[in-house]
Amino acid sequence: MDHPQDDRPYSSLPHPGLPYYEDVSPGHGSLPPRAWYASSDAARLSLNGLWRFRLAATATAEDESFAHPDFDASGWGELPVPAHWVLHGHGAPAYTNTLYPFPVDPPHVPTENPTGDHRVTFDLPSADWESGEAVLRFEGVESCARVWLNGRELGTFKGSRLPHEFAVGELLRPTGNVLAMRVHQWSSGSYLEDQDQWWMPGIFRDVALLHRPEGAVADHFVHASYDHAAGTGTLRVDCEPGGRVTVPELGLDLATGESATVAVEPWSAEVPRLYDAVLATAGERVPLRIGFRTVAVEDGVLKVNGRRILFRGVNRHEFHPEHGRAVDLETMRRDVELMKRHNINAVRTSHYPPHPAFLDLCDAYGLWVIDECDLETHGFAPLGWRRNPVDDDRWTPALLDRAARMVERDKNHPAVVLWSLGNECGTGRGLSAMAGWIRDRDPSRPIHYEGDRSCADVDVYSRMYADHAEVERIGQRAESPLPDAESDAARRAMPFIQCEYAHAMGNGPGGLSEYQRLFETYERLQGGFVWEWIDHGLAHPEHGYAYGGDFGEELHDGHFVCDGLLFPDRTPSPGLVEYKKVIEPVRIEGDGRAATVRITNGYNFADLSGLAFGWTYEVEGAPVGEGELAVPPLGPGEAMELKLPEPVGADRPGEAVWTVRAVLARDEPWAEAGHEVAWTQLTAVPRAEPVVGRRVALADSGAEFDLRTGELVSVGGLEMVSPPRLDVWRAPTDNDEGAEWQPDTRWGTVWRKLGLHRVQHRLVSVERGAEELVIVSRVAPAATDLALLSTFRWTSDGDGVRLVVSVEPEGDWPCPLPRLGVRLGVPAELGLARWYGGGPGEAYPDTRAASRLGRWTSTVDALQTPYVYPQENGARADVRWAELRDEAGRGLRVEGAPEFWFTARRWTTEDLAAAHHRPDLRPADTIWLNLDHAVQGIGSQSCGPGVLPQHELKAAPTEFSFTLRAVGSA
Ligand code: GAL
Repeated sequence: MDHPQDDRPYSSLPHPGLPYYEDVSPGHGSLPPRAWYASSDAARLSLNGLWRFRLAATATAEDESFAHPDFDASGWGELPVPAHWVLHGHGAPAYTNTLYPFPVDPPHVPTENPTGDHRVTFDLPSADWESGEAVLRFEGVESCARVWLNGRELGTFKGSRLPHEFAVGELLRPTGNVLAMRVHQWSSGSYLEDQDQWWMPGIFRDVALLHRPEGAVADHFVHASYDHAAGTGTLRVDCEPGGRVTVPELGLDLATGESATVAVEPWSAEVPRLYDAVLATAGERVPLRIGFRTVAVEDGVLKVNGRRILFRGVNRHEFHPEHGRAVDLETMRRDVELMKRHNINAVRTSHYPPHPAFLDLCDAYGLWVIDECDLETHGFAPLGWRRNPVDDDRWTPALLDRAARMVERDKNHPAVVLWSLGNECGTGRGLSAMAGWIRDRDPSRPIHYEGDRSCADVDVYSRMYADHAEVERIGQRAESPLPDAESDAARRAMPFIQCEYAHAMGNGPGGLSEYQRLFETYERLQGGFVWEWIDHGLAHPEHGYAYGGDFGEELHDGHFVCDGLLFPDRTPSPGLVEYKKVIEPVRIEGDGRAATVRITNGYNFADLSGLAFGWTYEVEGAPVGEGELAVPPLGPGEAMELKLPEPVGADRPGEAVWTVRAVLARDEPWAEAGHEVAWTQLTAVPRAEPVVGRRVALADSGAEFDLRTGELVSVGGLEMVSPPRLDVWRAPTDNDEGAEWQPDTRWGTVWRKLGLHRVQHRLVSVERGAEELVIVSRVAPAATDLALLSTFRWTSDGDGVRLVVSVEPEGDWPCPLPRLGVRLGVPAELGLARWYGGGPGEAYPDTRAASRLGRWTSTVDALQTPYVYPQENGARADVRWAELRDEAGRGLRVEGAPEFWFTARRWTTEDLAAAHHRPDLRPADTIWLNLDHAVQGIGSQSCGPGVLPQHELKAAPTEFSFTLRAVGSA
């Protein structure tokens, strides 16, 4: 979203003497930030657990006596730490996308400022603790805390998703230590944390007490570069105080500060080679996992270890449907495993540094990471960025504090390849100051920030939601110029990424394949990060999953918070399955008739030795042969052509298709051997148009019609609950509805205005011949002269009835149609589906890459995709035939000429469109079947561009047909 800058002077200044939660300083009393590590031989005591808790409505409602060790908190409630108190019955979460849920009056916050007082009592585990220093460490507290230990105030801090430590050694006693914390939901820091997510205060990450024996590691910085020409790594570990670093596998034993160059295997997201090492100082031994790699922008391309990399990325917020941003290690691991299993190789930690353990997982499993600072001031955009903290020197110390806390904490992760200054903050001197500080501290990583089109502070040109055409121009370095020639030249020489694209809200995103083709064509386009990883639907007793407004918020952005590739419970949505296919790192193409296949290794570093290839040959969806395919271990970028073998049974008549697959050859930490990585299907024998049976008297078809209306009453004894009728309506998807800031037309609005959700059918004529029944209807919404003239021609092939539908648009249609086909209702007992066509999951014209031809079965219930906000879903593509049967095997079979889109559900489209949450959809006594000749694409307009023209369903003269038969009847 672009917003013009408003430069009018603004006079109101923060007045002096503000309370700590309103002043713009980052806080006081904490230690300088330093590198995080998961463990060492220094003792540590987790303070996670049940704490005492009390909530006040304002920051000052309660005095500070609770911090005194003798205070009696036995009357308070209990709250787990880590947690958000709003998810434990104290107040409620609230969702806004960009708007501050309080008056924009920086740095002031509302008097109504939910404030949680927390207390925990702990004993030291051993006598060792009494000597030496100790620090209290907070990994994440939203949004501002004041801390006391044993009655002594330690200080205050802001920066919710950043670590804060306090020295507490001399305050500790063997038993009965009392840690007291006051946490305010709102603070000046809230102005810097306007990310698109739930507002959820609390101590939401771990709290620990770390013993710091004399001579323990204060901070350390691992410099581990890789020279791809020489094949060597250079290691230097800076440490305060000094000590030694040993890397047994490399035979290295170095003093800190000393460097050594040795032959190593490099680290990459594809081959995440780590070397175990130990950093030892006089007081502490810290295990290190070292990955050698060098990141550089060279010749306008972002390279790691000398090679261009391609991000197949996602934006990841930390989210759990019950625990919010208090995400446990197993959930983090699950995210990483799911990403790896879906061919994702990169994460942007939108829009704050994640829990530090997540980055250890990225190192170990192999994911490129853009580590983003906890900074967003988007809510200033509607005010023309007036008083934007990132352009106000008074806030710069807070911004620098945030930059330092991120960089210092995360600097030793090979996975982190770019630092990001934050998200959607407009432009300003504060960002330049952050970039300057980061460059100085860590020149080894390029800098990212999307919000400044001039790219003044960055090394990579980044955009969000640029459409395909613009991305292509950027790929050609032919984008429209910046006004300033020097900046323009600098930006044009930069690599390009889409830090956000393909908005995965509801059904979709569409258009992924077309983006990927661009990323793979132009060297400058180094991929992108789908928005976003997971729906932030909060578990709710009544609604299933709650979104904005479900907790009574006055200001909210509804279900815009549910826009992920995973459903809230981490079930992959069809969007993730599609993304996996689109970004598969091995391309398998070929000519099925000639039985040749071309394999291209699309990895940047890995060869193909980790994959095993195989083929299957199917006729009419039934396997007739399978085997292995010997593919040599092609290097990155290499390709070769292979001949497929002659399958046994290939002479069987019918449509025949090769499926060639690449699977893991052996177990990986993230998936087992056999896990599918890439596949393709190649047609060996194309589908022949179905043979239409000999025409016989319609009376012999076994079908009954109402001769007055021309409507089908039954087929082979199977009653129609509702006869086939022309249908054009679908429950608009989030992408059909579109976003108000998008220039493309929002078809959902146009469709409703035109009345496509309430078309009327006027019967024009019913003509009955011996062999044919012809019904003409005019299908049109009220108040317009636009119409679709439809002709249904029924004939019999002796065994079933054949319907040929001709559609003739009348008038100048201003919009694509949502769908074009027939809708019918059949008895609710026919709940078992079987089809030969695209599957197993849903597909639409621009989300069909992952749909593969085969014979599939499902229950009607399982055909539904449970989007948190109900909308059109569940279509199966390219269906040759489909059947719905009851438990006894009786039912209806539909054969299409040509192939059709098949949808079956236990509610009407109208019910689906009216629903707001999953539980609103209740099965009734009919299964509604849509047999569509064509459907409108999906696009990504809920935030990005709309449907590409080639995927639009234009109103045009069309003809298609189906044969309906009863199956399994007595
Ligand atoms: C972007 C923003 C994200 C998210 C997305 C829409 O503008 O950076 O945080 O709001 O739009 O879902």
